[in-house]
Amino acid sequence: PRPEPFAVALPIPPVLRPARVDAEGEHYEIVQRVAAVEILPGLSTQIWGYNGSLPGPTIVSRSGRPVTVLHRNELPVPTVAHLHGGRTPAASDGYPTDLLLAAGSTGHAARMPAMSDPQAVITSGSRLYSYPLDQPAGTLWYHDHRMDFTGPSVWRGLAGFHLVTDAAEDAVPLPRGARDLPLMVMDRSFGPDGELLYPSVDPGLVTPGVTGGFGAGVLGDVILVNGAPWPVADVDAARYRLRLLNASNARRYRLVLDPPGALVQIGADGGLLERPVRHDAVELAPAQRLDVVVDFSGYPLGQDVTVLNTFGEGPTGRVMRFRVVRAATDDTAVPAALPGEPGLSPGPDAPARTMQFRHATVGGMAGWAVNGAPFTPGAVHARVRRGAVEVWRLASDFHHPIHLHGATFRVLARSNGGPGPYDAGWRDTLDLRPAEQATIAVRFGPDPGRYVFHCHNLEHEDMAMMGNVVIE
Ligand code: C2O
Ligand code: CU
Repeated sequence: PRPEPFAVALPIPPVLRPARVDAEGEHYEIVQRVAAVEILPGLSTQIWGYNGSLPGPTIVSRSGRPVTVLHRNELPVPTVAHLHGGRTPAASDGYPTDLLLAAGSTGHAARMPAMSDPQAVITSGSRLYSYPLDQPAGTLWYHDHRMDFTGPSVWRGLAGFHLVTDAAEDAVPLPRGARDLPLMVMDRSFGPDGELLYPSVDPGLVTPGVTGGFGAGVLGDVILVNGAPWPVADVDAARYRLRLLNASNARRYRLVLDPPGALVQIGADGGLLERPVRHDAVELAPAQRLDVVVDFSGYPLGQDVTVLNTFGEGPTGRVMRFRVVRAATDDTAVPAALPGEPGLSPGPDAPARTMQFRHATVGGMAGWAVNGAPFTPGAVHARVRRGAVEVWRLASDFHHPIHLHGATFRVLARSNGGPGPYDAGWRDTLDLRPAEQATIAVRFGPDPGRYVFHCHNLEHEDMAMMGNVVIE
């Protein structure tokens, strides 16, 4: 079923209150549970949600002020929580086999293939994740990361925003409060009864994999923003900050405003840019974030401003709508200089590596691989020094959004020249395109340990397109 577009009001996920605040920081608690919610008007949908909602609650943190999140798993399957974009010690980074078993569960875990990782740290019921958040202001998100099953778990709803603020950002007169909108964009499919459809070979999620024909990734025909189908938001005739997150499993978007208007980019995955970049369209691969400022005072009062996806067709060609309903005062601005950290110029002796992200046939099965081999927890693709800067060349056969944990990077070049128009700033996810090679300067984090890097097309990730970096 497809509801009328632009009929449901845009929800803003609630900001989570800490359960406790002390000298060590802020302490949150989240319960991962099954819930019945209304996504399509008049129908009930069963989801897996952080605190039972889709998106999960938003956590807002201050740079340098540590946070813990106690996750309790009341779902029918094991989970792994990952803070995407967080500079996180390995033990809390959500390594795919560091399972949090469901409270009171028995059978499921014993049948998990992930049990063959001797380094896995497995907990049961509740698990405490620690986030130092010693990093600049930015738009982070948290989502499930279980080995072989990230796709179906995120599809069911396990995703939420985690925003980081800092003093440098406070000093910029950007839109804030009700004019700072986190927008989680995702595509989903629903059956006639309103239930989510996902083509798992095993609906019990013990045996991994999607049914034939979905190996390239699972796409939906309903676009959700903050969990609502093609929503509408009433806005003032003023500047808004839109924190765009592509939380889709596999879909890429190219977003434009209709009637046309500027999308002034101020931030990327890793925080604010050094200077704004004006776009008429923005492209977003899965897991990427782009912060843009849109000035609705450029439209007449009463104007509908629709966000279209020019990579989509029909229902997936539109995303949401703004309705400019109120005249307003606006003392915000987008200054020509923003406090983003400058880029890197790695010296000639910086370690260089090449990673190939390609289709592979492994044991007679079609799949996806890094440097020809499917993921295993024991195989190390790179050993790097803490804080090191390296040059990585990433090559591909298909669209692969490549995400590195424990690192941030700048795009230095693509095979056809310099960085692309959407490559500004610090990134943690690269939109790697078919038959392309991209060169990035990667700065690894300060914490030693084992981190993954992988394709963030979640079906490719679940089909083992992942590797290990050991920071030593
Ligand atoms: Cu957004 Cu490895 O994850
Ligand atoms: Cu991929």
